[in-house]
Amino acid sequence: MNNVLLQTKNLSKIYTDDRKSIVKAVNDITLQIYQGETFGLVGESGCGKSTFGQMLVNLLEPTKGEILFEGEDIFKSRRARKEIPQKIQMIFQDPYSSLNPKRKIGWLLEESLDIHRKNLSKEQRIKIVDEMLELVGLDESYKDRYPSQLSGGQRQRVSIAIALILKPKFVVCDEAVSALDVSVQAQILNLLHDLQEKFNLTYLFISHNLNVVSYMSDRIGIMYLGSIVELGDAVTLSKNPIHPYTKMLFSSSMNVGEADSGKIQITGELPSPSNPPSGCTFHTRCAYCTELCSSARPELQELPDGRQIACHYAQKFYQESMEKKQ
Ligand SMILES: Nc1ncnc2c1ncn2[C@@H]1O[C@H](COP(=O)(O)OP(=O)(O)O)[C@@H](O)[C@H]1O
Ligand code: SF4
Ligand SMILES: [Mg+2]
Repeated sequence: MNNVLLQTKNLSKIYTDDRKSIVKAVNDITLQIYQGETFGLVGESGCGKSTFGQMLVNLLEPTKGEILFEGEDIFKSRRARKEIPQKIQMIFQDPYSSLNPKRKIGWLLEESLDIHRKNLSKEQRIKIVDEMLELVGLDESYKDRYPSQLSGGQRQRVSIAIALILKPKFVVCDEAVSALDVSVQAQILNLLHDLQEKFNLTYLFISHNLNVVSYMSDRIGIMYLGSIVELGDAVTLSKNPIHPYTKMLFSSSMNVGEADSGKIQITGELPSPSNPPSGCTFHTRCAYCTELCSSARPELQELPDGRQIACHYAQKFYQESMEKKQ
């Protein structure tokens, strides 16, 4: 049995601005993340991935819904809320802006030990900092350098060291390699993977890049305009995507010339989240749209292979894909 580490129940975030326009950035997401897994969250830019991730690390207050970490509501339980920085951490996309340029790397690494591990002596703190640097592939000499003296990949290694220094259980990686050169991306992904095994970490791995998410994840949630439209085992989804949006994403991430049955062309643009389409929010771009789709919102339903899909015709598409296989 998989142990649930974190779950969201009907989690929603609505942004309002001065002109009272509202954006439903995250709309009613209920999901579980299991201990030790990498849960990948993927979708086009603006679909609400970062908003979702930031709520999980308590950087943003939800408009509605619950987040349970180890069974406790992180907004209702004072103890759970206090412990979040030690148990849940985040790695951001841009190591250029997330590291204070005025501080040396050694200081940046010691900072959270100063705040959260007050009982440690200076020698103990230094020892932990040195060990952490070594774990992310940097030697002690980096302690005396400033972020501006490091390459993008080295900075992201420092960000990872800072995120892991308090030994968290759960780490949200938000576009953690998107700002890096492709050759460096692979090194950082492998580092994250090694550290996960070493510390039994659980990751929420957020990216707009389906290839990166597929490489890293055990399970994947496909997000569209604030909602999950398909969720399931990473291998199952990549071998046989069912939701028309998932198909669109997978076909667009394929290299030219790759085998590609049932290819769907990317059509149209992401509608504005402040004025989302009625019914199924994907209906304005879906080749299979019917009248029902534009009037009724499809709920997530489970298919025989365990995946969940929000589409009125999920069963039909699933049957068709099974018949094609035979
Ligand atoms: N602070 C904010 N105020 C108003 N709207 C926001 C704010 N942050 C994000 N949004 C909007 O919410 C939607 C989701 O954004 P975001 O969570 O950053 O998506 P993603 O990470 O998938 O690109 C977007 O339409 C974005 O413009
Ligand atoms: S509900 Fe309709 S519009 Fe939405 S994905 Fe399914 S077929 Fe397409
Ligand atoms: Mg984002």
